[in-house]
Amino acid sequence: MTTSLANDTNELRRICELPTGSALPLAARFLAELVQHPAFLGSQILPLLEEAEVARGWYVADRFDAHDGAYSLQVFVWPSGTETEIHDHSSWGAYACAFGTVLEERYDRLDDGSRTGFAHLKKGWQLWWSPEDGASTVLPGDGGIHRVGNPGEGPAISVHLYGPRIGEVDGRDYDPSRDYVCDRLDFAE
Ligand SMILES: [Fe+2]
Repeated sequence: MTTSLANDTNELRRICELPTGSALPLAARFLAELVQHPAFLGSQILPLLEEAEVARGWYVADRFDAHDGAYSLQVFVWPSGTETEIHDHSSWGAYACAFGTVLEERYDRLDDGSRTGFAHLKKGWQLWWSPEDGASTVLPGDGGIHRVGNPGEGPAISVHLYGPRIGEVDGRDYDPSRDYVCDRLDFAE
């Protein structure tokens, strides 16, 4: 079992070479087990808390990327009161909370995507995730429009696994207050 993000490369590659429908439940199980493992928590997560207490924005504290882009495993730190923009990814994704509690919001896209720069969203659901709650998964593109954040009092940390990218861009950012969407070039959340 993992004590370093680089130790499970064979398992990660096996998961990320599968079709999306097969990969997602395995990715979720991988992350759910990872965030429960004491050695991983002790070596990779708990050392981040001191900085997380004083950081102002959320950030990626650690990441391990396959050389050929087959997967990316990333550790996100969420100081209290931080959240991402509403966005999607050009790959499937899975994430699990490793410390504290994170809030995930999911959105449905109501337009047909035919107008450049236009997207009409409706909030679908939101869920709080703690380390014992397992992992959430998102499909690529319109099937996984979401926002992650930490509205709580203390810091939170989550671990994210992204599959192979489909297409040129990293994903898209949405602004539902003005029905706007734009490509995002090299950024992951
Ligand atoms: Fe994301």
